[in-house]
Amino acid sequence: MSTLVVVGTQWGDEGKGKIVDLLTEYADVIVRFQGGNNAGHTLLVDGKKFICHLIPSGILHGNKVCLIGNGVVFDPSVFIEEIKELSSKGMPVSPDRLRLSSNAHLIMPYHKALDHARENAKAEGKRLGTTGRGIGPCYEDKIVRNGIKVGDLLDPVLFREKLADNVKEKNFILTKMLNAEPVDTEDIYREFQEHARRLAPFIDNVSILIDDARRKGKALLFEGAQGTQLDIDHGTYPYVTSSNTVAGAACCGAGIGPSKIDKVVGICKAYTTRVGAGPFPTELEDVVGDHLQEKGAEFGATTGRRRRCGWLDGVVLRDAVRINGLDGLAITKLDVLSGINPLNICTEYEVSGTRHLHMPGNIREVESVCPIYKTLPGWQEDLSQMKSMEDLPKEARDYLKAMEDIAGIPIMLISVGPGREQTIFLKNPFD
Ligand code: GDP
Ligand code: IMO
Ligand code: MG
Repeated sequence: MSTLVVVGTQWGDEGKGKIVDLLTEYADVIVRFQGGNNAGHTLLVDGKKFICHLIPSGILHGNKVCLIGNGVVFDPSVFIEEIKELSSKGMPVSPDRLRLSSNAHLIMPYHKALDHARENAKAEGKRLGTTGRGIGPCYEDKIVRNGIKVGDLLDPVLFREKLADNVKEKNFILTKMLNAEPVDTEDIYREFQEHARRLAPFIDNVSILIDDARRKGKALLFEGAQGTQLDIDHGTYPYVTSSNTVAGAACCGAGIGPSKIDKVVGICKAYTTRVGAGPFPTELEDVVGDHLQEKGAEFGATTGRRRRCGWLDGVVLRDAVRINGLDGLAITKLDVLSGINPLNICTEYEVSGTRHLHMPGNIREVESVCPIYKTLPGWQEDLSQMKSMEDLPKEARDYLKAMEDIAGIPIMLISVGPGREQTIFLKNPFD
């Protein structure tokens, strides 16, 4: 087994950073394949916290290679800042272990301006609650074929030409349609020439690097960002991000064929959170929701926003198993449920008297579903130092069993705290 894809099964923030950091021990190469710095993946190592927005979460292992694939939308200033921060924390990063696809698209200043201006122009209640990082507008330009790629930085003439065309169009939209400030071609050109100088040594053909590594028998770990319900096709559209977040995206977003992926693992928080707008059938706006938010420290790792919290949603989990072709689960934040009694797990939705095992396709229907719950006894014990399944109280084991029954696949890992050591390994996904 040498190629593993790890994805979020819910609305993001499942704990992908922690699990990827942990699994990096068994991998040689770690690859991001979609999204951008809308992601915030938290790593807690030796009591020190680091949040990866753009650089793969394997970076804290000094001897592993990290790659940023073509499917990522790339903000150079965030990348440079992240490298600086790593360096200031005693982890210098050089191009010998971090490479960037020349085919990734650049997030330009006008993408961020458009992201903000579009959200501001929307009426209260109609906003998506984006991270404001320019993600949607950048993917939009990629799809309409106006995008500027990382590789274009190395061709100043082409870069300037594309930039000038884009600025003309974007300034029209910004000033005439969105009542926002224009951007300046020369300012952007100067800023990006400086970026080009710094990024040049990192730019490469990531698909070839992946293929070479695979042929040499190296183990590859593909790190998803966001989560299945934020997928542009399979999520709660339009309250989603602008990329495919599901496991299949690893192939197009990194340049590896589907026959070369060995296994897919889904990360599932033991309850549900969502940051930003959109339907959330099992949301709790009561003391239990507050308990989850406070004990789980549920604040966005990118925007600092308070995350909405609710019961575990089995419909979401079941869909994630199917859409991603999951082989196993990593359950996170089980420790946060201690002290809540009883516990509910949503097993189905009801809409106008009809039961649904899967997420309805129509957003109005999703907004009107009524969750059907299975109620289980809770537990009081602190799980955060527990090392094996046998240590866990029976109620916690029953809760995990209920998750497995819904998913129909085995749990491979159980996380009981943010630290590396706070993990119960049942089965190594790389075996
Ligand atoms: P990601 O975007 O999926 O990587 O997740 P985030 O980093 O945005 O959010 C997950 C948060 O939960 C981070 O603060 C982690 O340090 C923390 N975390 C991860 N696993 C656990 C766990 O098992 N228990 C607790 N209490 N915290 C965890
Ligand atoms: P990680 O990788 C949670 C959400 C935003 C918003 C919607 C669209 O840390 O799990 P965007 O800026 O992408 O256009 O915003 O998607 N969102 C996330 N929510 N975790 C994330 O990433 C997210 N990335 C985007 O809050 O609702
Ligand atoms: Mg996050």
